[in-house]
Amino acid sequence: MEAIQPTLTPVVITSVSADAPQALIIAFCNREDMFSRGRLTAALSIVLASLFCASRSAAQDRPLRQSASERQFLIGAAVAMSPFRNEPAYQQTLGREFNIIVAENAFKWDSMHPTRNTFNFSDTDALVDFAESHGMKIRGHTLVWHNQVPDWLRNGGFSRDEVISILREHILTFVGRYRGRVWAWDVVNEAIDDSTAALRTSSFWYQIIGPDYIRLAFQFAHEADPDAILYYNDYSIEGLNAKSDAVFNLVRDLKTDGVAIGGVGWQMHQVNGFRIQPANQTNARRLGDLGLQISITEMDVRINLPTTPDKLAQQALAYRDTIEFCLSEPNCKALVTWGFTDKYWWIPGFFSGWGDALPLDTNYQLKPAYYSLRDVLEQGLDFTPRLTGVSREGKKLLVAGEKFESGAQLFINGEKQKKVSNDSDNPSTLLVAKKSGKTVKSGDIIQVKNPGGVGSNELIYP
Ligand code: GLA
Repeated sequence: MEAIQPTLTPVVITSVSADAPQALIIAFCNREDMFSRGRLTAALSIVLASLFCASRSAAQDRPLRQSASERQFLIGAAVAMSPFRNEPAYQQTLGREFNIIVAENAFKWDSMHPTRNTFNFSDTDALVDFAESHGMKIRGHTLVWHNQVPDWLRNGGFSRDEVISILREHILTFVGRYRGRVWAWDVVNEAIDDSTAALRTSSFWYQIIGPDYIRLAFQFAHEADPDAILYYNDYSIEGLNAKSDAVFNLVRDLKTDGVAIGGVGWQMHQVNGFRIQPANQTNARRLGDLGLQISITEMDVRINLPTTPDKLAQQALAYRDTIEFCLSEPNCKALVTWGFTDKYWWIPGFFSGWGDALPLDTNYQLKPAYYSLRDVLEQGLDFTPRLTGVSREGKKLLVAGEKFESGAQLFINGEKQKKVSNDSDNPSTLLVAKKSGKTVKSGDIIQVKNPGGVGSNELIYP
């Protein structure tokens, strides 16, 4: 290990691959101790890192959802109720970063339909309200799945007709309650069996109702909310294989029969090392040709522990590929990760020795995977604020324009104004300066700067 440079956090350098410089520098900006054996000179690494950090910090506060929304793209995460209710940083991060959420468990049968005659809407209401008050969309996950079927139903000895009527009541009550408020529903989850690439015959739904349960569920969901986008969702169907072929055939037949299916969800639970392949594009396009959209619905990229900087850099490539892919396929509408912080994540319970699969670490710090998502989302977007008009309202100065970011500053004749806030109803188009109205006079030059220092055009006060 080679100790270098006196003034910044001590770093040493690992082997450098084609993708490495950016990853190294990202880690440097995050103050991770990732450089361990020297190839670049210390001086060069410091210069590169300083330059990169400077431009990165300029964009430091711009959340994923801002650029995603500008592209009309949905970036989201699954929500676990316990931290949602108990940990302020969890909710704050969710609201700041994402424009769509999905419940990890709260929308499943065993959570919200615990007995035959009881629906528990406390968590589902909380999530739908949260999404609405934060200008987010919500995915409903899931209406029919072979897991998390409550015991009262599974062991209730109900006849086929009774189960169909229970399913109908469940869907009409649940989907109906949020009619017009849930963007998309995973109507059926994981109906295809991995080993046979045919319908999963061991599923409770299949066993009691038979294969028709799928179209019945779509029919009931459409009846309950004709405007929601209805999805079929599954894992290991992102590429081309026997299972994705089976899903393709299933959804093609549903479409042919006039069933109101609108999309296919690719769960995208991946192992580190995953890269997007041409087969992903072929699969997306054949679904697109059926008139179906796709969403990445449960992405995570699990790392074989212990995590190292190289593994994080590798993970960032998986996220980078996936967001690039999704943005370049017109029918890909959303990328949702299954959780967002490594602090709360389902894998440790399922795959021991694996973890750290999400874009934020256990302390809510942004990982290389996060920066990959953000870099790609921001590519080609113009974040320059534009000033279109200034008016006075007593002591207040109202500054109208576009692309004002949270924390934007107002300058009059080059002097930074105090007590400036974004108008909460129109945060990106209106700044309100509480006192500046008192002092502004004709001929003064007005300018707005976003937190990263990007300045608008200058406007002369009339
Ligand atoms: C599947 C389900 C999710 C979640 C994960 C992890 O992917 O669709 O709801 O339960 O398994 O457990």
